[in-house]
Amino acid sequence: MVVALGTGMDPMEISFAGPGKSPAEIERAVAAGVTVTLESPTEMQRAVSAGDRLGITPRVAVRVNPDFELRSSGMKMSGGPKQFGIDAETVPEVLERIGVSGLDFDGFHIFCGSQNLREEAIAEAQEKTVDLALRLSGAAPKEPRFINIGGGFGIPYFPGDKPINLEAIGESLAVHVDRVADELPNSRVVIELGRYIVGEAGIYVCRVLDRKVSRGHVFLVTDGGLHHHLAASGNFGQVLRKNYPLVIGNRVYAETTEPQSVVGPLCTPLDLLGASMELPPGQVDDLVVLFQSGAYGLTASPTAFLSHPEPGEILL
Ligand SMILES: Cc1ncc(COP(=O)(O)O)c(C=O)c1O
Repeated sequence: MVVALGTGMDPMEISFAGPGKSPAEIERAVAAGVTVTLESPTEMQRAVSAGDRLGITPRVAVRVNPDFELRSSGMKMSGGPKQFGIDAETVPEVLERIGVSGLDFDGFHIFCGSQNLREEAIAEAQEKTVDLALRLSGAAPKEPRFINIGGGFGIPYFPGDKPINLEAIGESLAVHVDRVADELPNSRVVIELGRYIVGEAGIYVCRVLDRKVSRGHVFLVTDGGLHHHLAASGNFGQVLRKNYPLVIGNRVYAETTEPQSVVGPLCTPLDLLGASMELPPGQVDDLVVLFQSGAYGLTASPTAFLSHPEPGEILL
């Protein structure tokens, strides 16, 4: 929220989501006029207290933990017991309390899961999400200003992955947007994409510090690793570890290759950027380049692990 406010954008366009918002954070959001996305009854109470202290009516949205899952997503954020959102079956009660407490109800947030490459699964989740939001709107103290249906569009990382067909998703979504326009003429459907917008725009580069051979297997030891790029190490949302697309940047036209593993300097075998990949023989000072690194890279990584330096980030 603080980062978003720092950009100078209109607080009306900012919502503050995520479980575990402290009383001070909620007060800051209320003071700034940001929509607080309630993830629990406790957060609702904190919003009420913040409003009382500040003499401001807090704007709140309700994040709903639906009673369905998103099929085929890399990371599921909904269905069953979850730390995200308020269980759909208890939302009507929370909406009533929002009305009684004098909070300004702004909308719903229903986000099912991340990294989905299956259009039909995305379309199905969007349909169920809109159904649920329309149903819950009947119990809301007023018409929602927005229905935030989350992000989740995937990007291809691994052999066999295909980019999603946006047109197919757009066609089915248009039907649901029309349904919302009919039933709730003052509501907007909002999509909150992350990875799909920035994931393919970023590359991560690290330098080879050592080339060593252990029992016949070549390791390129770099100054990068899971502390900069947890996702590429396979420790963020992968069940079976797969290699991110990776090249040796200064040897892309080399003709010979050999199996090599690219690792980092940390004290764990999990610090692996490329496992047994066919690459041109790497040498000290070569530059290893990982693609699809613009989302869930540095910001999703344990940068303090072993106190190695953080990488620079350059916007071109
Ligand atoms: C609340 C919320 N909105 C949007 C996103 C972006 O998701 P994605 O990168 O799958 O589009 C996330 C990611 O976890 C999130 O937690």
